Amino acid sequence: MRKEISILENVTIDQLQLKNRTVVAPMTRVSTNGDGIPTEQMATYYRRYAEGGFGLIITEGTYTDRTFSQAYPNQPGITNDKQLEGWRNIVSATHAVGGKIILQLMHGGALSQHLSNTRGPSAIQPQRKMLEGYSAKQGVFPLPQAMNSAEIDELIADFTASALRAEKAGFNGVEIHAANGYLLDQFITDYTNVREDQYGGSIENRCRLSAEIITAIKSAVADDFIVGIRVSQGKVNDFDYTWPNGIDDGKIIFTSLKNAGANYIHFASEGKGFDHGCLTKNGESLPKLARELTGLPVIANGGLDNSNEAKRILKGNHADLVALGTGALANPDWPNRLKNHIPISPFNADMFALGVTVEHQFKWEEKANRA
Ligand SMILES: Cc1cc2nc3c(=O)[nH]c(=O)nc-3n(C[C@H](O)[C@H](O)[C@H](O)COP(=O)(O)O)c2cc1C
Repeated sequence: MRKEISILENVTIDQLQLKNRTVVAPMTRVSTNGDGIPTEQMATYYRRYAEGGFGLIITEGTYTDRTFSQAYPNQPGITNDKQLEGWRNIVSATHAVGGKIILQLMHGGALSQHLSNTRGPSAIQPQRKMLEGYSAKQGVFPLPQAMNSAEIDELIADFTASALRAEKAGFNGVEIHAANGYLLDQFITDYTNVREDQYGGSIENRCRLSAEIITAIKSAVADDFIVGIRVSQGKVNDFDYTWPNGIDDGKIIFTSLKNAGANYIHFASEGKGFDHGCLTKNGESLPKLARELTGLPVIANGGLDNSNEAKRILKGNHADLVALGTGALANPDWPNRLKNHIPISPFNADMFALGVTVEHQFKWEEKANRA
């Protein structure tokens, strides 16, 4: 029997010691000046979460190469020394106040709102339309070209080079973004991947690329550098998708990620709460399965700024840590509030009425504080 754990109790991910179980979920903020170099304002933004008591911060999705990975204009990258130095400044600012920070590595694939010439596992038209607020480009996504095997090899090498840059910048680790409908999730998903090579067909084959990326990174970085992975059922362009074979898919995916060398599994729920995104269509908990099957630390997500809901998830053995998205935007000091019994503010979507950048957020906060 596992003893009841508290949100504010410490925890370790492999050798990384965290002061509590609260995590800032990765959130794209498109706040660079077009060059992908993280700014001073972004350092203020990230440092604030560490000051607010979060045990771990996962950064926004960061692009990994200069060809096909960038998803949004003004998204940060980690593809050259200048971008690395921008991130180093953010890492230093965060570490200086006792925070721990992991860089999310992201390839947009067929959901890029930045490129006209996109790549995906297969030449299949993405569902629905581009997200509003993240790019001037709107409407339907372009038809992607299927990646060839040389491009896949290059992709793995680029993820690895990016992880090495992240290590050099001082990050505590990287998280591979294989969730929410972006490239690696496009490989995992049955209807976006109709390849006939070793990366398509069975679910074992469809999660092979994510597994190979983890293994390649783990063999390149120091032993204590964390390599986690984020997966989900739902997608930004298909919120209600569930893994077609539920628990059976989960067993194969989680085992493959563990065997590849992942240090943690992060299960995301895009926008509609834990139960909506994290349970199979038969109501079984996928994060709980990941915990039981792999023994790895599991981060759960989805409406967990409601502390009763967060407690239910930890108590029910669904996860070891809870990641907050919109709740962290509204309460950058959520853990300190919990500790000091200060009420939590609800997320107000007006924060992004004029745009989703950090600058827009800070201006909105200034106005809200004056009112
Ligand atoms: C502004 C914004 C940007 C996001 N960008 C990312 C991202 O870069 N990578 C990612 O994995 N998820 C991203 N997400 C999803 C969040 O990490 C999280 O899964 C989602 O907000 C649900 O959690 P919540 O219910 O706590 O808000 C984003 C969410 C928001 C609100």
